[in-house]
Amino acid sequence: MFAAEAPYLYNPPCMYGDVERILYSREVIEERVKELAGQVVGAYRDRPFVAAVALNGAFMFAADLVRHLPQKIEMVFVRASSYENGTSPMKAPEVTIPESVDVEGQHVLLIEDIVDTGRTVEALRREFLARGAATVRICAFLDKPTRRQVSVDVEFTGFVLPDDAFVVGYGLDYSGRYRNLPFLGTLKAPKA
Ligand code: IMP
Repeated sequence: MFAAEAPYLYNPPCMYGDVERILYSREVIEERVKELAGQVVGAYRDRPFVAAVALNGAFMFAADLVRHLPQKIEMVFVRASSYENGTSPMKAPEVTIPESVDVEGQHVLLIEDIVDTGRTVEALRREFLARGAATVRICAFLDKPTRRQVSVDVEFTGFVLPDDAFVVGYGLDYSGRYRNLPFLGTLKAPKA
């Protein structure tokens, strides 16, 4: 299961021992991201667009996705945060799009790690439209539709999570950690 990491599995500082279950392996993710990129290529064809990566969570997904795109894209990086710590959104999402990002009249593909309540992508979408974007489409690695609080149209989705389990890895964190897991998984409950 953790072939390369096995020697470190029971070494306390290693994160692999905290994983309860692997939902999507590195190989399964790789295949799916390739398929998703195919859909994006087909949707934009020869139209240029701006790929807006929502940091921090989407860094790994975006890095893999854009390497499959032949289009001349511009990449910009935006910030969104709604968690203070833990596993539930604590506050209204704060979105930061640098002033230098100019999307006037441009097509924007917003690349997100996960759409949960939908509030973050909605806030980013609105901000891009307010700055004059011609269109904003959303590409999310994961979707948790059962948790939605605002209706959002996610045009490209990697995986729809079957329940609302909190997941980590492939860019997604728990309290800032586990982003570097190469797969997507759930964590064991912390020991009391
Ligand atoms: P939303 O605004 O509720 O849709 O929240 C989106 C943000 O919440 C994502 O960009 C993630 O940073 C975070 N998030 C939601 N669910 C999870 C999860 O299962 N694991 C890690 N982060 C999550």
